[in-house]
Formats: sequence, structure tokens, C-alpha cells
Amino acid sequence: MIHCEKGLFTLHTKHTTYQMKADAHGVLLHTYYGPRVEDCDLSYRIRYVDRGFSPVPEEAGKDRTFSLDVLPQEYSAAGMGDFRLPALDLELPNGSRTADLRFKSFRVEPGKYTLEGLPAFRGDETLVVILEDAAAGVEVELYYGVLEDCDVITRAVRLHNQGGQTVKIRQAASLCLDFQRGDLDLITFDGKHIQERSPNRGPLLPGVRSAESVRGSSSHQHNPFVILCDHDAGEDHGLCYGAMLLYSGNFQAAAERSQFENIRLTLGIHPWHFCWTLAPGEHFTTPEAALCCSKQGFSLLSHQLHRAIRERLLRDPWAGQPRPILINNWEATMFDFDAERLVNIAKSAASLGMELFVMDDGWFGKRSSDLAGLGDWAVNEEKLPGGLEALVPRIQALGMKFGLWIEPEMVNEDSELYRAHPDWVLQAPGRMVRSRQQLALDFSRKEVRNHIYDALKAVFSSAEISYVKWDVNRSLAAVWSAALLPDRQGEVYHRYVLGLYDMLEWMHRDFPHMLIEGCSGGGGRFDAGMLYYTPQIWCSDNTDAMDRLRIQYGTSFCYPVCTMGAHVSAVPNAQTGRSVSMQTRGVVAMHGTFGYEMDPAQITPEEREIILRQTAFFKEHQALLHQGDYYRLSDPFQNGPYTAWELVSPDQREALVSVVSGPIQGGPPCRSLRLKGLNPDFYYQVNGQGRYPGSALMEAGWPLPLPWGDYQSWQFYLTAL
Ligand code: GLA
Repeated sequence: MIHCEKGLFTLHTKHTTYQMKADAHGVLLHTYYGPRVEDCDLSYRIRYVDRGFSPVPEEAGKDRTFSLDVLPQEYSAAGMGDFRLPALDLELPNGSRTADLRFKSFRVEPGKYTLEGLPAFRGDETLVVILEDAAAGVEVELYYGVLEDCDVITRAVRLHNQGGQTVKIRQAASLCLDFQRGDLDLITFDGKHIQERSPNRGPLLPGVRSAESVRGSSSHQHNPFVILCDHDAGEDHGLCYGAMLLYSGNFQAAAERSQFENIRLTLGIHPWHFCWTLAPGEHFTTPEAALCCSKQGFSLLSHQLHRAIRERLLRDPWAGQPRPILINNWEATMFDFDAERLVNIAKSAASLGMELFVMDDGWFGKRSSDLAGLGDWAVNEEKLPGGLEALVPRIQALGMKFGLWIEPEMVNEDSELYRAHPDWVLQAPGRMVRSRQQLALDFSRKEVRNHIYDALKAVFSSAEISYVKWDVNRSLAAVWSAALLPDRQGEVYHRYVLGLYDMLEWMHRDFPHMLIEGCSGGGGRFDAGMLYYTPQIWCSDNTDAMDRLRIQYGTSFCYPVCTMGAHVSAVPNAQTGRSVSMQTRGVVAMHGTFGYEMDPAQITPEEREIILRQTAFFKEHQALLHQGDYYRLSDPFQNGPYTAWELVSPDQREALVSVVSGPIQGGPPCRSLRLKGLNPDFYYQVNGQGRYPGSALMEAGWPLPLPWGDYQSWQFYLTAL
């Protein structure tokens, strides 16, 4: 619901309120964001105080209490006396770095805005507040989208050069959010390849703390999602705010505690190596950011974010649809396979209830190792005689669908493509930085995308391809585009991301039923921007079940189970050398888009039985696993004896509790696990037995079995009587 009255703009979702106000000087002040409050002008909270060294804009005259440095801004601009984090940094034709934004007008639109060429949530209503910098001739449209039921407010910004001269955008954040308080914790989700998205929490201290990427993609190292919360906020209590960026390139999430103990959060494209030239008449649109607020802790925050992603971001036909259980040959074969080996893997997989066979890296060009072949998207007929036309029907005859791996953005020097078009790489002249022996293609260029897409389209059209794993396996470095003039190189990273989205959009157009899974050496590009195009993303190259507990735990704060690619792989694990039972590997992996990444012909008869039970269980309970509300019952980083989590169906009639124990220690304590999210008035059976009040299971708890050996697991399936 949007209310606009005399320069006061209030957005209500079901449980939250967001408000801003244009003041007497036309400065758009941020007055409130938090739990829902009755309609009123919340600017009564703003204090006007004369502060030393805080400058006063001309129109305030002698009123030394009016300073942009002190007041809560809705969209902060650099150069006019607000010395905190800027959202907007403009370079004017005369070289000055000043932007002075004043309220001009607004409009309310039914339905939610979309952003051309960029991912965006679907929502209910739109507010556009238009600011202008009259001297610069630049109009800044602040877009707000309301997702009422999910308690999500989205934001994006569109700049329009209405003047007669070219300006440069040095920074344009998607979001600026001022808090009139200084006592908040910041939680970021950080890590590295094979250990992504570990939560890191700490109180904001004076100065700036940030999570950012300058790797060209959102990265393994930091995620474009952060939480700000009360110091004592936990899973079930405390005020918390989540902010995500729907963007897959360089980003910066920065939180500043300023001198007067206020907090500002900015989130958007990273300003490093960004400079966008805006000629007269041109527009620039930022990616979308989304905010969510919960006054009941992180569980509710996650439920709302998960719901928004599932219902308002993922697109048809895969939003809400069951995902196939897949078998991927990568860990079983690496590059060393032929059609017979693949068909054999598929045969045993089909007999175990798996539904989709995925042929991973190595099927194209001269790809027998990672030294060659990227860029040559034609089937390697030495490995696969007769091409996909011959292979796919053999897989389908087993009752399975077929999918394959691609890495369209990359090229090896040892490839036909590179030999023909060495100038198509994204590489500064005279420099060469390889990673995994590969270079990045200049996806900002349409002719490059066209070439790759035409080749892929021919492959996708040669047989029935139901699924594609879109991978990218390096960070960008020494970036430079032959297609851009020297003073336009600051656009290259963003144009690359726009090019990536453009090609993903072509795939949606031409192959609307294809399921696309995102991947970047595991979870190096796990962000809401990618999820708009690829409804699931390979969570991590680390398939060790114990490490996955942590990776999936961290990921779950923002992203729902149905987006996390998770597979059972062989033991000892290829990344850690650890051996964990098939039972436990399955329990962990089924809390994602489930699959196996091994040669099922190599397993014992007992393991076969376990897999058969797992695939049957997953199929039966996929709706609960993928659509249920997710509760983190313990924190795997605390090294407690158990890690536990739970899914509860929206009607509370079903729940699944999963528990994994860590390394065994003699004399383990007897523990009870207090469940969450049940209906206190319902009675539940646990694994088909007994009659337990929901209130008892939640307040008194459920006794956990004593572990015997390392890394055991248990599942408790609850149904209301
Ligand atoms: C990346 C992916 C893996 C696999 C390999 C293939 O590392 O994350 O799952 O596809 O590439 O080269």
C-alpha cells in the first residue's frame, strides 16, 4: 500500500512501513523503515542540531542546524556536504564532483515496475519519486516496488540526462538506507572457493565495514546479501533487516557508523572501475535491490525472503515446479569419458530413481583437459560418435531426461575460436592473466554473444536438451574491451553483466522449458540476479556433507532450499578426503535441488538400498522440502554435537526434522531438540508413531538418539493427526 501526501511518501507491506519526506528545501529525508506503524508523519523523529564542521547548503541561510551531513538522506549524493557514504557520485562536464538532488515530482503506478535488461522481482505496486539536480540537468528517479505479503520493498534508480552536456556517473547505488541509531550488528556472508557464504557477525563500529566484489562476478568471497540487526537478535527474536542486490557482477554493500552514531547502508554496483558516460538524452538504470524487515528474528526474515524469491523472482515454468533428481558425471569421470561410460552411469542411475542425466565438462571441441576447447561449442565426435543425436535417445530410452554443461563466457587459447578471434577476449593490450588456463570473452559485445549463442543453439536444437548447467570458472582480471573507447572503459564490467543477462534471456525465449542451473566453480555467482534466469545454482564444488552443513546453513539466510544445488558424491570426498555415510550424504543433499555426482555402479548393495529409499523419499516430500518454511535449529559453526534444521509445510500439518551429528566423543550427552513452527494445538505423529502435542514438541522438545560413530544422521517426519 502506498500513501502520498504533501511530500510524505509511505509504503506499507503487511508487517512493515517505509517512509520518506521532501522537506522545506526539497531534500528527500528518510524518516523510517521498520515494523509496521499507523499512518503518521514520522519526520518528528528527525533532530536538527548545529554540528561543528557540518556544512550548510546555501538556501538554509543562517540556519546552522540544516546540514546534509547530519540529516537522514533517502539517496545520498557526494560533494555537497554529506561526508558519509554516497549513493550517487556525479562528475559534471566542468570536472566538479557534486550532485545536489531536490524533490521534483512523483507518481504511483499499479503493478510493479520492471527493469529493461535487468532482473527484478514481480510485485504489487510502484512508487516513483523524482529528484533533480537542476544545475547538472540530471533527473534521478527513485523506484520503489512493494511486495505486500512478503514484506519486501524493492528499489532501483534511473538517471536521465536532461541537460545539454555529458555527465559521468562515478557511482550510482541501488539503495541507500539511513538508520537513526548506531547500535546495529552487520552480518555478511563470506568465504572462498569450496567454502562459501559463512556468516560473519559483528557490531558496527565507527567507520565503514563492507562486503564487496571486484572479481567481475558476485564471487565466492562475499555475497550481495547482508543483514543489519539488533545486537541481541537471534533466530526467533530481535529486529533485523535483510538487503540483497539482484546483480551478478562487481558489487559493494557498505555500512557506515557515522560520527553521531547513525548508520547508513549503501548497496549497488561497486564504484571501482565504474564510470558511466551519460550523454544528453541518455538513461542509466541501476540493478534492483530488495529489503525485508522482521521484528521476530532471522527465521521470519528468511521465510519472507524465501517466499519472495520462490514466488516473485523465479520464473515459469520452473517456479514452484518439482525439480528432477539428477545424476552428474563430473566427479565420476572428470574429462575422461565416452558415450558408453556415460550410458552405463545413466543406466545404474535410472535404476536408482534418478530422473535427469547431466553430461558435464568435456563433451565439446578438443576438451580432454582444462587446457583446451572452451569456445568451441560443437560435440567432440571422438568421444561421442554421432553427436547428441545418437547419445540423447539412448539416455531417454532409460526413462531419463538429458542435460549438459556449458561455459559460454570463457575461451581457451587452444581453441578454434581464439585462433580466429583473439581480439574477442576481455583483456588489456599487452597484458595476459590466465586462470584455470582460460580467458574471458568480451560478453559486452553483441557479435561475440551472437557467435557463441548460435553455436550453442545448434547444439540445443540437435536433440532434446532439458537442462543446462551454465558455469563460469574464473574471476576477471586485466579487464579491457576492444569495443570501447578509452574513456568508456569504466562501463565494461557492467556491460559484461548486461551481456550475460541478455544471453540468458535469449535462452529463455528460445528454450522456455529448459531448466538452467547456474554455477561458478560451485557457488561463485550465487545471487538473486542469477536466480531470475537460473532457478537453481550449484551451491559449492565442496560436496563433503559436513562442510555442506555450513555452506547450506549460510546460504539459507537469504536463499530458499529449492535454489541450492546439492549432490551426494563419492567418498572419500574429493575436496576434503573425509568419508561420511551414504545416509548422511543424502540427508544433507536432499535439502537442495537433489542429485548425485558419482558412478552409481561403484556402490555396495547396502548403499543401493539407501539411495533407492532417498530418491523415493525426496520425490514424496519434495513439496515440503522445497516449499516449506525453513528453520535453522542449530548453528553448525558452533561445533555442537548436532546440527539440526526443519521444514514445516505452510499449513503446519507436515514437518521434516533433520539432524546430523559431528565427530563422536565418548559419553555424549542426552539432548532434546525443541522444534519450531508447529501448530501448538495440533497433535503430531513422529515417523508414523505416537501422538505428541505440537506445544510439547516445541517447548519440551524431542529426544535425540545417542550417536555411535562419526557423522550420523536422523530424520523425523511429522504429520498432524
Ligand atoms: C566447475 C564446476 C564443477 C564442474 C567443473 C567442470 O568447477 O563447479 O561442478 O562442472 O567446473 O570443469
